[in-house]
Amino acid sequence: MKVYADNAATTKMSKAAIEAMTDCLDNCYGNPSGFYSLAQRAKERVESARREIAEVINAEPREIIFTSGGSEADNQAILTAANIGKSKGKMHIITSAFEHHAVLHTIKKLEKSGFSVTYLPVHENGIVSPEELEQAITEQTCFVSIMSANNEIGTIQPISEIGAICKKHGVIFHTDAVQAVGHLNIDVKSQNIDMLSASAHKFHGPKGVGFLYVRKGIRVSTLIEGGAQEKGKRAGTENVAGIVSMAAALKESVKNMEKDNAHMREIRDYLIKGLSEIEHSALNGDAKCRLAGNLNFSFEGIEGESILILLDQKGICASSGSACTSGALDPSHVLLAIGRVHDVAHGSLRLTVGEDITKEQADYIIDNVKNIVAHLRSFSPVWRDLKEGKRQYILP
Ligand SMILES: Cc1ncc(COP(=O)(O)O)c(C=O)c1O
Repeated sequence: MKVYADNAATTKMSKAAIEAMTDCLDNCYGNPSGFYSLAQRAKERVESARREIAEVINAEPREIIFTSGGSEADNQAILTAANIGKSKGKMHIITSAFEHHAVLHTIKKLEKSGFSVTYLPVHENGIVSPEELEQAITEQTCFVSIMSANNEIGTIQPISEIGAICKKHGVIFHTDAVQAVGHLNIDVKSQNIDMLSASAHKFHGPKGVGFLYVRKGIRVSTLIEGGAQEKGKRAGTENVAGIVSMAAALKESVKNMEKDNAHMREIRDYLIKGLSEIEHSALNGDAKCRLAGNLNFSFEGIEGESILILLDQKGICASSGSACTSGALDPSHVLLAIGRVHDVAHGSLRLTVGEDITKEQADYIIDNVKNIVAHLRSFSPVWRDLKEGKRQYILP
């Protein structure tokens, strides 16, 4: 059996997205900046995609900038907000400890150049507290960047409350909504979101294309200089087929969202129940306030990487709680942020199921994870020490 359970990493392109893309590549290959009708057709397709995408998040088409994906959108949003802050002499940023590195690394760079940063805790449930956010705001705060949903543990953040607080204090609010767009309802107006980043490959669109929403009235800083595309806000010939395909994918995801989420939630909870039977294991992040397809478990006494290799041999694609940085395995900053100690964070497994997941596949996952954890523990020195009482269990 094959099970793709790594949808937070990327999703398979939908048929609608592939068809839109191939049709565009075949019939609409003109450069949108050209004057002849082939070029104008390409331009029309880009503008129609802009309208469709704007409608999904209740924005205006002119508030959408097409980018190469989520990382670029995050970088541009943060640079934009920082430049506005600097011009007003406001040099304080608020973010959370478990943002994606596209946000954290960009903000770290600003910190080195003189900005001060508050990294809000996310607590054991993996959720930012709006009260703590409000307490952190000072006269110097120029912007807040809090993700809509976490990519590793799937926890959904109180975006509407945060938006209202930022509005009240006159602080720009950016949200990295890469894991949320196409999966959760978003309304930038009622949620008081000033900037929002999204990426097509997380909602069955192609890789290498995304968008940044910037509320009208905010002066956008450019990351890429060159031609006058995107009204001078992002130079470079438009990725026409990617943009058109992204719009087709998003429309479809949103159309099926309620039904798909209901199904994924049911399977997710079934998986959580099954995996919770493994002794000395724990679900990471709030059990309910999380994306419909996400579950993330820590198992004491084993290495997440080994689980992945053995799951792969069984045809199951998943990911772990460690990242390979400079040749060494570092535990995930997300799991550390919710209070998991290094050893436990290392023994973590993220499963992100899609809308086509079946109950049979869920049973297959549960059986295999149970067997693999037992097998790995059978020769783990850490597990032996725990069993012999030489170490204390951390997970119940
Ligand atoms: C929350 C979040 N932000 C940003 C990104 C980066 O997006 P992209 O891969 O499109 O650059 C990702 C991708 O994993 C993500 O999950």
